[in-house]
Amino acid sequence: MGPVILCLLLVSSLCQQAWSSPSFTIDFARNCFLKDGQCFRYISGSIHYFRIPASAWKDRLQKMYMTGLNAVQIYVPWNFHEAQPGVFNFREDRDLEHFLDLTMELGLLVIMRPGPYICAEWDMGGLPAWLLNKKDISLRSSDPDYLNAVDSWMSVLLPKLRSRLYSNGGNIISVQVENEYGSFHACDYSYMRHLNALFRLYLGDDVVLFTTDGNADYFLKCGTLQDLYTTVDFGPVANATKAFEAMRRYQPRGPLVNSEYYTGWLDYWGVKHSQSSALQVSLGLQNILETGASVNMYMFEGGTNFGYWNGADFSKIYQPITTSYDYDAPLTEAGDPTDKLLAIRAVISKFQTVPSGPIPPPTPKFYYGLISLQKVGALVDQLDFLAAGAPYVTDYPITFEDAKQYFGFMLYRTHLPLNVPLYTPLSSQANGVHDRGYVSVNGSFYGVLERDVAKAVKVTGKAGDWVDVLVENMGRINYGGDLKDFKGLVGNLTLGTNTLKDWLVYPLNIDGPIAGGWPHILGNNLLRNPRTENTGGPVFYRGTFKVIDVGDTFLKLPQWSKGQVWINGFNIGRYWPARGPQVTLYVPSSILSSSEMNNITVLELENAPELPTALFLDRPILNGTLRGK
Ligand SMILES: *[C@@H]1O[C@H](CO)[C@@H](O)[C@H](O)[C@H]1NC(C)=O
Ligand SMILES: *[C@@H]1O[C@H](CO)[C@@H](O)[C@H](O)[C@H]1NC(C)=O
Ligand SMILES: *[C@@H]1O[C@H](CO)[C@@H](O)[C@H](O)[C@H]1NC(C)=O
Ligand SMILES: *[C@@H]1O[C@H](CO)[C@@H](O)[C@H](O)[C@H]1NC(C)=O
Ligand SMILES: *[C@@H]1O[C@H](CO)[C@@H](O)[C@H](O)[C@H]1NC(C)=O
Repeated sequence: MGPVILCLLLVSSLCQQAWSSPSFTIDFARNCFLKDGQCFRYISGSIHYFRIPASAWKDRLQKMYMTGLNAVQIYVPWNFHEAQPGVFNFREDRDLEHFLDLTMELGLLVIMRPGPYICAEWDMGGLPAWLLNKKDISLRSSDPDYLNAVDSWMSVLLPKLRSRLYSNGGNIISVQVENEYGSFHACDYSYMRHLNALFRLYLGDDVVLFTTDGNADYFLKCGTLQDLYTTVDFGPVANATKAFEAMRRYQPRGPLVNSEYYTGWLDYWGVKHSQSSALQVSLGLQNILETGASVNMYMFEGGTNFGYWNGADFSKIYQPITTSYDYDAPLTEAGDPTDKLLAIRAVISKFQTVPSGPIPPPTPKFYYGLISLQKVGALVDQLDFLAAGAPYVTDYPITFEDAKQYFGFMLYRTHLPLNVPLYTPLSSQANGVHDRGYVSVNGSFYGVLERDVAKAVKVTGKAGDWVDVLVENMGRINYGGDLKDFKGLVGNLTLGTNTLKDWLVYPLNIDGPIAGGWPHILGNNLLRNPRTENTGGPVFYRGTFKVIDVGDTFLKLPQWSKGQVWINGFNIGRYWPARGPQVTLYVPSSILSSSEMNNITVLELENAPELPTALFLDRPILNGTLRGK
């Protein structure tokens, strides 16, 4: 007993070596991973700690363990941890090491995917938008400015992982380099070689480093590198042996690996809700396991794009991703087991022992009913404290990145240069509104400019009237060749044929004041500056509600159009029932209080209902009717 207890106390690699040192390698002769000398395969699931409140991490990991998984696969979003160059945040919901401690505690192995690019349907694929401060930067390439930023980030991140590697007594068995690099046009092998050397420098020579690409030659060609183990990704298919043939052309020996087996799919605003059958997903998994392959299910739990973190795709038009990242995964957005999970567990049990005992049941969900909201006032009337400092005074519009405001909203203001007695188009001929512009003249709302969809709004007014365009960043493109997705007015606006000039540009810090208690701290003294009689456009509302039993709930905003919601200062994301398919927003129990009144703040951008209310339901609605654009 003595030495064993000593070991538990010391948890040192020295101590481990007294018996046999742990190892995780590849056996190219027997086509398998070798864990402590034995052939091993992993059955893993992806989970994004950055899409789940920290207080729920353990619960979700426990459910994954109970399903019979022996590993989890994790991305690290660079922009979530380094919001400003050189300023790092690993606290609270960003406490990666705490998350990794929990995986270790539960006996799960870890497959790390530290990027630097991760895609993940996350803003800019995880790259920090401040990289765009250098306008002509070449991302995901050997551009020295890009590489310097990567090197600096990795010098902070990778040392945190080293002691957690399996061979050092931890539970990280492998580390992915970049992500689906073969899908990117640059095809810069020197960049991949640079990353390989960088990862080796910090992680040593023992750890398995690998790449993941779509399973076709045109992806694998630029994504693979001699020194990195090649893996592929694909969803449910009838014949997994056939699907792995592409991998074998690039990786003739070693274990078969599907690094992203798709259990579901993401949603876009304005596109039908994605769903896939539990039967098809579980049969496809069985087919993969029968080949002896290792597999990671993407996603096992999707979670939520809280705040402004969602990404976007570009396919003919710009397509932003919804706030919910439920993914129709085996665990729901709120972490509850589904029939899909049970079907997957039944399949896994044919291949390896799954822990006995029931899967933890769904956590209770609460119906808190309907509450009424009060108007606080138009956004433009709150500029004195929402605008972070004086406005930029410019001839022509500047971008969010120029103003070093990377997320949320900026207000662009100018005057009508002449009398406009007849409705005249205010337009972005260059399609330069990234991504939505809410247009008001002297406080009257005229409509929305939308990237790729609505290039003009007709306005009237008198020479000298204020023209306000509140521009919303709807999330940066996370995939494909358009990663450099500058936000704001990236082209001029014209009124008829006149280019509008002489702008005041206000970067807005809305989250700061709301986290600090605004507008509820105003008490009943609401009308700070009643200049504008509101007729739609960006307006704040607030409400309070009491909760006796605290639990997860789902917020519905009946008859509202589009906007952003905060509860007790926490930004729960964008709502857009006027577009669909997502109708409710997930409200995690961790942000609610049973001892104090709970505060809700809504920024409606277009039109609120005449009687503004909020409804808290005990179930999500993610498959609402789609409305026109
Ligand atoms: C699956 O594909 C492999 C390779 O192409 C083939 O040999 C095998 O017969 C196929 N299996 C089935 C059940 O179709
Ligand atoms: C627009 O607002 C300005 C400043 O408040 C005011 O002088 C002007 O008369 C208003 N224009 C119209 C058409 O109401
Ligand atoms: C706006 O128009 C001015 C004058 O034609 C031009 O100098 C400027 O580059 C334009 N700005 C953008 C972002 O296109
Ligand atoms: C709601 O706002 C009030 C007024 O500012 C504050 O006293 C209270 O603590 C807030 N409630 C919560 C749960 O934060
Ligand atoms: C949405 O999903 C629910 C629950 O699965 C289902 O009952 C309902 O019929 C669906 N609604 C639509 C419009 O598809």
